[in-house]
Amino acid sequence: MEARRRAPAAAPVRGRRLGVALLDWWDAARRDLPWRRTRDPWAVLVSELMLQQTQVSRVVPKWAAFVDRFPTAASCAAAPVGDVVRLWSGLGYNRRAVNLHRCAVAVVERHDGRLPDSLDALLALPGIGPYTARAVLAFAFERDIGVLDVNAARVLGRAFAVTAQADADALVPSGHGWAWNQAVLDLGATVCTRQAPRCDDCPLFSRCAWRRHGGPDPATPAGRQSRFDGSDRQGRGRLVAALAAAPVPLDKADVAAGWPGAHERAAVAVASLVDDGLAVIHDGRLTLP
Ligand code: ADE
Repeated sequence: MEARRRAPAAAPVRGRRLGVALLDWWDAARRDLPWRRTRDPWAVLVSELMLQQTQVSRVVPKWAAFVDRFPTAASCAAAPVGDVVRLWSGLGYNRRAVNLHRCAVAVVERHDGRLPDSLDALLALPGIGPYTARAVLAFAFERDIGVLDVNAARVLGRAFAVTAQADADALVPSGHGWAWNQAVLDLGATVCTRQAPRCDDCPLFSRCAWRRHGGPDPATPAGRQSRFDGSDRQGRGRLVAALAAAPVPLDKADVAAGWPGAHERAAVAVASLVDDGLAVIHDGRLTLP
């Protein structure tokens, strides 16, 4: 742990206009999580793999113990895989521990024990997928790149009607990739939650595309049926019907939803389908899961 590069103090918040509200909010609301105090790529990788299927509160002590015992990829690679699994136990999905060990071995063999800082080289490592590779680039190497896990996709899909990786990348305020992505994750965890979003507390409220298109389930006044024709539900239904026949390219979602030209509204509908587990995005196309 001692050899780890220390995290620099948070950069002053400027960024583009779009990002200012979120970064300002985050300055006051940020969660103080231990892996945010390091930029060591190995330690960041361990945290991201642990966080993929496990709650933050359970990861905190496990991450500290893990990077204490295995402070480098080389130390992990040199240990029997059983030791890695043992330290992992309690987090669930133990296959992640086996993959992490395989990854550590590959890092030693291919990169002299140091995690590479290019997307392609990270993706070529065992157990590292597109989310994890981007998270390492953003959180260890401070690249201005969008990190899109399911929570970030929900926040960006709702607020900015963004569903594609390239659009998520374009949103990152220049020079603020690290803070921006942490802020998006915190907003998704604490305010823009899946089930009970607290829109009144949201720094993006005034710009939120989801809110402009109806926002979280508006309470239907008692005794009145909400109108279906022209509703977002209708568009979602059309999208799912289209997906049942064939994948839908994201840039054709407006047509499939029955709203030609209404790209933002369609993107919000796409994000909500993904959020609800009804669809997945792959290679620029929406498909059934
Ligand atoms: N989930 C995935 N990455 C995270 C991070 N860096 N902080 C909090 N939650 C996360």
